[in-house]
Amino acid sequence: LPRTATVKDGHLYVGGVDMVELAREQGTALYVYDEEDLRSRIREYVEAFSAAYPNSEVIYASKAFLNRAMAKLVAEEGANIDVSGGGELAIAQAAGFPMERVFVHGNNKTPQELEEAISAGVGCIVLDSRIELDRVNEIAARLGKVQDVYMRITPGVEADTHEYIRTGMEDSKFGFTMREDFAFNCVGDVLAAENVHLRGLHMHIGSQIFKLQPFGEAIAVGVELIARIKERYGFEIDDLDIGGGVGIAYMATDAPATIREFAQITADALHEQCAKFGVKEPRVLTEPGRSIAASAGITLYTVGILKTLPGIRKYVAIDGGMSDNVRTALYHADYEAVIANKADQPRTEIVTLCGKHCESGDAVVLDGSLQTPELGDIVAVFGTGAYCRSMSSNYNGQPRPGVVFVKDGQARLVTRRETYADLLACDID
Ligand code: LLP
Repeated sequence: LPRTATVKDGHLYVGGVDMVELAREQGTALYVYDEEDLRSRIREYVEAFSAAYPNSEVIYASKAFLNRAMAKLVAEEGANIDVSGGGELAIAQAAGFPMERVFVHGNNKTPQELEEAISAGVGCIVLDSRIELDRVNEIAARLGKVQDVYMRITPGVEADTHEYIRTGMEDSKFGFTMREDFAFNCVGDVLAAENVHLRGLHMHIGSQIFKLQPFGEAIAVGVELIARIKERYGFEIDDLDIGGGVGIAYMATDAPATIREFAQITADALHEQCAKFGVKEPRVLTEPGRSIAASAGITLYTVGILKTLPGIRKYVAIDGGMSDNVRTALYHADYEAVIANKADQPRTEIVTLCGKHCESGDAVVLDGSLQTPELGDIVAVFGTGAYCRSMSSNYNGQPRPGVVFVKDGQARLVTRRETYADLLACDID
């Protein structure tokens, strides 16, 4: 639930705004973000990490959710941002985000994207391959710059999450493999390249992780590599970026680790491993996306069709679906939903909240509990703040929903709903 969610006179309120009224004013489907919640999660990360391990920085992983308003909010909170390519970089730039606080990711950043990033003056490029090292070095040389870089390594750690969003195992398209000392040997090439400066190592083991132990294992691999680099090259690595943040509770019964526990495990693992290998403790960076944006966001829909298949199930069709939230179709993700205009009533029915798209797999909630649905009801789906709008599409010619930030009883439209004209904007006769 968004942190400011409450129920008054049967209506769901977020940020002091009546979600039923907002849906009427703005139309549905609509993404709504609790601005206080977004800010408080960033602060929670910053505070938890500075308490557990003061030499640390928080980087918001903008792939979870980004528009200009979000980039501005992250800048105001003093956090860094990571972008996964030229598009997210352009949004951050348009928002006036300080470029020295930008980290650039991607396993195949195009030469053009690299050039855009280096000339914009981004703080750090996360090198993902040996080939990319030469590209970055060459572009930086041409632009007369020395670019700070991290090297992303694949620590060979298996995280307990959906196989599509696991990234730390040895068989991965991401990063420099540790096999046959490939990453280790490439460090020499990075150090020898004149127009890059090796500032740190990067690892990311996966997303929506509940158990913290794999983070500790990955840190052990990273610190051992730092020690070997010091021994062989006489070079001390300053930064260790440990990738994405903790998982979140999509269902009331989910019990992910807290941000505080995550920070503590990180600090403990670093202290232990650095003492073991006799290296200085690096600055640590973490790149949470989901745990900052997911709970703050909800999606509002209107119920358009009801179908009861006797002995099978009840379908509640809403005016959106896999175009605004593909996670259910893609990962069988779970979500909690309520009827925003009956939020004080018990959820006594089990229904499938299906979308309006031409696919059987198009659903937002599979067999979830809900109040008794009626035509015209406003449904609120929780936990949709991350990887929903950012993975949205125009499937079936569906214009993307708008985005509203709510705070202190005020609603602020920060991205307008797409129009049919937007669907046609790129076509050439
Ligand atoms: N850093 C890197 C390098 C990443 O690849 C990711 C996520 C993050 C940070 C942020 O991780 P988080 O804190 O959000 O767990 N579309 C999937 C999630 C894919 C995550 C990709 N990388 C989903 O909807 O569950």
